[in-house]
Amino acid sequence: MPAVQVPPGIEGIVSLTELPDPAWQDRWDRIFVAAELKDRLLNYVLFSLKHRGRVSGVGLPIHGLVVLAGPPGTGKTTLAGGLADQAARQLGEPILFVEIDPHSFPSQMLGESQRGVARLLERTLPDLARRGRPTIVLLDEVEALAVSRTGASLETNPVDVHRATDAVLAGIDHVARTCPNVTFVATTNHSAGVDVAFLSRADLIEHIGLPGPEAVARILRDTLGELVTADRIDDAALRALATDCVDRALDARQVRKLVLRAVCASRELALAPDRLSVADVSAALRSE
Ligand SMILES: Nc1ncnc2c1ncn2[C@@H]1O[C@H](COP(=O)(O)OP(=O)(O)OP(=O)(O)O)[C@@H](O)[C@H]1O
Ligand SMILES: [Mg+2]
Repeated sequence: MPAVQVPPGIEGIVSLTELPDPAWQDRWDRIFVAAELKDRLLNYVLFSLKHRGRVSGVGLPIHGLVVLAGPPGTGKTTLAGGLADQAARQLGEPILFVEIDPHSFPSQMLGESQRGVARLLERTLPDLARRGRPTIVLLDEVEALAVSRTGASLETNPVDVHRATDAVLAGIDHVARTCPNVTFVATTNHSAGVDVAFLSRADLIEHIGLPGPEAVARILRDTLGELVTADRIDDAALRALATDCVDRALDARQVRKLVLRAVCASRELALAPDRLSVADVSAALRSE
């Protein structure tokens, strides 16, 4: 199903998408992280979407909030979308995926960002949730929205930042109480900048680290597979290259881009990338 057009005037929402969508399957299948991590995320989201409304908020305080934390380029944003798509497949019913723009609440005018956040979480999202669909809301780069109030005291306009964070916390609580069909997935590559009370509300905080040798090898093989046939991929050379990538602390995004860098190293490969070899990619890494 295609992305639903966001009607003009829905402040703070980047996109509304109905899932599953075949084009989104890669976001789950081709992000390589520990299988247990994926399992836990999927189990959590299914439980939260299906059963949160039935349990007592005192007996089992579940907020409907999962946080993916980790360095840049480790797949957090992509996996959040993949998770929603996969959850829709498992549930056997469509899910509404709502992407929030954390940067759309400027604080030039005192109180404006606080009001914007409150409108979004206390009116716009509950309105969307009333459509009745299981709904996953992506709070990407949440450190921009739930700014740590400790760190913010050093900023020039701390009062407004504090109030915006207060509005996020109140808004998350409001959605938790009134919209059992909504689950938030937040991402951050700077968890120290996220307010502690926001993190404390999370039902699950998953840390995604830099990929190890096994994961890098899978990522390299998968990326090369976009361009060359499997018989061109030398296994031993690929494993050695994966170790070199880990030694240089490359993130997963950088590993994929290394293949691109190898292609760009020669006119011949740029025009006929099916001739690429693992040796070319190793050469690209050495030239960095
Ligand atoms: N674990 C992974 N396995 C395979 N590919 C990955 C992985 N992580 C990232 N990638 C590749 O890098 C791209 C960018 O990843 P993504 O934007 O999801 O990372 P991120 O963790 O959200 O980064 P940032 O913190 O900078 O926002 C993905 O679309 C994918 O091509
Ligand atoms: Mg991201």
